[in-house]
Amino acid sequence: MTGTIIDGIAIGKEIREEIKERVTVLKDKGCQPGLAVILVGDNQASRTYVKNKQKSTLEVGMKSELIELPATITEEELLGYVTKLNNDDSINGILVQLPLPEHIDENLVIRAIDPTKDVDGFHPENVGKMIIGQQAYLSCTPYGIIKLLERTGTEISGKHAVIVGRSNIVGKPMGQLLLQRDATVTYCHSKTKDLASFTKQADILIVAIGKTKFITGDDIKEGAVVIDVGMNRDENGKLCGDVDFTSAKEVASAITPVPGGVGPMTITMLLKNTLQSAEQACTRENC
Ligand code: GUN
Repeated sequence: MTGTIIDGIAIGKEIREEIKERVTVLKDKGCQPGLAVILVGDNQASRTYVKNKQKSTLEVGMKSELIELPATITEEELLGYVTKLNNDDSINGILVQLPLPEHIDENLVIRAIDPTKDVDGFHPENVGKMIIGQQAYLSCTPYGIIKLLERTGTEISGKHAVIVGRSNIVGKPMGQLLLQRDATVTYCHSKTKDLASFTKQADILIVAIGKTKFITGDDIKEGAVVIDVGMNRDENGKLCGDVDFTSAKEVASAITPVPGGVGPMTITMLLKNTLQSAEQACTRENC
């Protein structure tokens, strides 16, 4: 079997077109959505991510505000910027790019963001609501993966989903979102013994561990849907995932490439969350 390649670029573009249309409606009512990004220090990877986020924000017609702060900023000063954005009606989404410098408590900063503007879906209020199935901002990468599965017609209900990786941003929320859609979910992580015995049972396999080509075709069940969240560089400096694409695609029924799979969906869902926040604010203000 040679698996279908799940085209995150095309699906992301399709959703961004839908977002763009709804942004136009809001703009006509005088409610242009706005996303503010706070970038602390000069981590090059973070700078690139933020630049891409800004570009996509502008492309769908939203306002984009970038606040660049030095790595030496104090926690208190940073919290001051967050509060200012919480109180700014022209801003519907606030994103503090992680990681933050070591002297700053990330959890404290995330908790300071108004949950109604927490378009990353990292605030404990949103995480808690998500787990009990209430409306909440969903963490963008797992939310994007759900959209990939939905738009490719992948059945989730009753399927065995195996998640490799248990981060707060991807693995943990991913499992919850699949559970809500009636999958049977298994979490695997760095201490899991005989990992392949689990991954080989997966109808849907999600890999988010940050290890180059760690999962190969031998670890995958024939016909599985494989979602690769990894973003690594191989020995030649080429972008690659946590899954060995060449061997895995011979076994999977569908698989995401890296780049061009999950990555474009993460930014797309950030824009979708910002749109949702703006639509709710616009209704509240009766525009
Ligand atoms: N750093 C890496 N990924 C992310 C993300 O999705 N959101 C934020 N805020 N920081 C990140």
